[in-house]
Amino acid sequence: MSALFEPLTLRSLTLPNRIGIPPMCQYSATDGLAGDWHAQHYGCRAVGGAGLLIVEASAVLPEGRISPGDLGLWNEAQIGPLARLARLIESQGAVPAIQLAHAGRKASVGRGWEAQSTLSAEAGGWTAVAPSAIAFEGYAEPQALDAAAITAVVAAFAAAAGRALTAGFRMVEIHAAHGYLLHQFLSPLSNRRGDEYGGSFANRVRLTREVVAAVRAVWPQELPLLIRLSATDWVEGGWDIEQTVALCRLLKEDGVDLVDVSSGGLIPSAKIPAGPGFQVPFATRIRQEAGLPVAAVGLITEPAQAEAIVANGEADLVLVGREILRNPYWPLQAAQALGVAAAWPAQYLRAMPR
Ligand code: FNR
Repeated sequence: MSALFEPLTLRSLTLPNRIGIPPMCQYSATDGLAGDWHAQHYGCRAVGGAGLLIVEASAVLPEGRISPGDLGLWNEAQIGPLARLARLIESQGAVPAIQLAHAGRKASVGRGWEAQSTLSAEAGGWTAVAPSAIAFEGYAEPQALDAAAITAVVAAFAAAAGRALTAGFRMVEIHAAHGYLLHQFLSPLSNRRGDEYGGSFANRVRLTREVVAAVRAVWPQELPLLIRLSATDWVEGGWDIEQTVALCRLLKEDGVDLVDVSSGGLIPSAKIPAGPGFQVPFATRIRQEAGLPVAAVGLITEPAQAEAIVANGEADLVLVGREILRNPYWPLQAAQALGVAAAWPAQYLRAMPR
């Protein structure tokens, strides 16, 4: 028996196995619209056998894009092309999810493979916004959000969640990790506000909790809500695992169903001890101390490693990112490696080892 290939039920939704594909920006959209690249990329990976596929960071407001190539969910025209992706994913037996994002002070830079510096207006850039006018190292200084703009951000997350539902997604993930807007509010290193959104722990987590509440209010009760958190900034005096656990206890009350546990992204010079499964212990702590289901992510590349994480109760779900960019059929091959019947598509059966 393989624990990795056991189903996982969250609210009324059942994932066929414990392998998910985390959100990974393709930087290939125009005006936030998904196109043919996205269809081939997500369609191919849905065939690969993962139980959950989380479509990349999709901006809830145009100024919340990392780059001009980001997907968006800020207008109605963006629903149709995303509905095509949700259909493609679901037709192959995977659960379609999408990440709702706002880049804050890390907005307005080149696509992932271009220069990671602030784009000028002539190059299609815009002024980034943030909790405080403190730049991400090497980027332009952002504009601090005022109270009305914060209210608009909360409303934009909720409206984007409504559009994701119309497009046919069955889960949404709120992006509160990797140094983007919500994480910028969480961390004392980027949030120096003097109002009710800055200072104390309760104030710094306020925006994230307001976004969760607003999304939960439009997201159907029977469908799960995910959040991605950076468990630590990996910097002394920053956001850390103790604060993350405390936040997760609150998020459990607020209606979050699973925490996708990543780390870092706020301070580019942070020393991160990356290695196989290096973020898994954070997921395990949240699972044990906050009592919420968790996804582990980060350098999980081997079937036996993924199997052990789930079998040992370290996480409920594993997310495999770059390895599945390299090899879309990783989940099917993992099944074979673990002695589980792999559901290769009938069209490919003649290519399978006998
Ligand atoms: C990412 N990652 C990421 N994370 C996120 O929360 N939203 C996103 O849109 C993206 N985009 C993205 C693009 C690309 C090309 C890569 C490689 C990564 C991070 C990703 O979800 C994952 O957490 C990391 O890649 C670590 O997992 P792996 O790759 O070690 O399995």
